[in-house]
Amino acid sequence: MLALAAALGTAAYQAGERLAGTGGGAVVTAATGTVPDGGALYAASCAGCHGADAGGALGPALRASAAWSGADFTQAVLEGRTPDGRTLGAVMPRFATAGLDGAPPTQAQLDALHAYLKTLP
Ligand code: HEC
Repeated sequence: MLALAAALGTAAYQAGERLAGTGGGAVVTAATGTVPDGGALYAASCAGCHGADAGGALGPALRASAAWSGADFTQAVLEGRTPDGRTLGAVMPRFATAGLDGAPPTQAQLDALHAYLKTLP
């Protein structure tokens, strides 16, 4: 019962965040419609393992992979395969099946994440 209450509370909180426009990994701009917020997506889904500044923690620093092509970065995040042919350890989620922000990641979300990582020093 407690767990159910907690789950409902979390869902309500997330719904509230979405309504308020502060969560869910998206910001709305007049010029472009809904653009995924790479920084918010990173903070919610990646920072816990790769560090707040992507400098590495449980997972490696993402400086090197930020420089990969969009297709290579997408493949690593979705399927856990790197451009040099490595299969990433199972700790790294396969976001194609794990989902990002509650649903399979869209290419726009992946592009936003990748672009955000490139802005980090
Ligand atoms: C539960 C922990 C965890 C989460 C959450 C996580 N990762 Fe990882 N990630 C790892 C670990 C551990 C590795 C290293 C695996 C290996 O080398 O075998 C890794 C590896 C990677 C790599 C390959 C880096 C390289 O240079 O080889 C990329 C890219 C990556 N993660 C991106 C992401 C992104 C983007 C997110 C969020 C959408 C994310 N990860 C979320 C744990 C995590």
